[in-house]
Amino acid sequence: MTERPLPATPAPVSDPEEVKSCCATAYGSDAVALLLGDSYHPGGLTLTRRLADALALTAGSRVLDVACGPGTTARLLALEHDARVDGVDLGATTLEAARAATATVGLSDRVRFLHGDAERLPAPDAAYDALVCECALCTFPDKPAAAAEFARVLRPGGRVGITDVTVADGGLPDELAGIAGWVACVADALPADAYAELLRAAGLRVLRVAAHDGALVRMIDRIDARIRLLAMASPARMAEAGVDADAVAPYLSAARRAAAAGDIGYALLVAERPGRG
Ligand SMILES: C[S@@+](CC[C@H](N)C(=O)[O-])C[C@H]1O[C@@H](n2cnc3c(N)ncnc32)[C@H](O)[C@@H]1O
Repeated sequence: MTERPLPATPAPVSDPEEVKSCCATAYGSDAVALLLGDSYHPGGLTLTRRLADALALTAGSRVLDVACGPGTTARLLALEHDARVDGVDLGATTLEAARAATATVGLSDRVRFLHGDAERLPAPDAAYDALVCECALCTFPDKPAAAAEFARVLRPGGRVGITDVTVADGGLPDELAGIAGWVACVADALPADAYAELLRAAGLRVLRVAAHDGALVRMIDRIDARIRLLAMASPARMAEAGVDADAVAPYLSAARRAAAAGDIGYALLVAERPGRG
């Protein structure tokens, strides 16, 4: 791919409520659905299955999917683990799409979607046997509040499974700060150990921290391939969704370089609320 300079980025958003609503709006856009497909995180359903396997789910387990996006994970957990799943997201459009897709496959009696903020979950204490949060903790401005909410809504003995974007100790490289301004979401990603520390500080016992950096690289490659294909096969659809292949290309190159240098990665964490279930 020909290297181009990164396009100018909008001014970074600093108000926490604005960051959340900007991120929810971005992920509710046609462009994201077009580029990411059904699953909005590195590793796709393969990594989701690995995460689910670590949660000790049994038939009828109550699971909360925090920042559920299009609801693909929620439906998978219902279908493959016979779980009852609530998905929470801030994006109104995202939730509408999640509900529609769930109704289409006849799972609406087992999978519900609620509008809500991860930092103030719309759920009673100890309501869930397990909680998942994929590629979203990095976006929450008040991560300790979200981690405390995870611990609050889990029953004692319940598990939380997280996968998320990680950054090296020095933070995002300058080149990627531009992307962070563009998609406010990854600006606040942390090293994997710092996510683990957040969970510990919320009273959870960390059981596993594993790097899955290859999943991030594969996602970058997949988006790149999808853009090239769409640019050839359906440029009108790209234009309709507001995707400019030439503008996205330098960001993908920058992200690929950062991943190759180990500046960004992806991690899976599993933790447990201490106590007997
Ligand atoms: C990268 S997408 C991940 C979606 C889904 N977990 C998946 O992996 O397919 C991030 C999601 O987080 C949601 N989100 C961002 N901030 C949120 C918040 N404070 N509370 C709830 N959802 C939030 C966005 O609307 C978006 O759907």
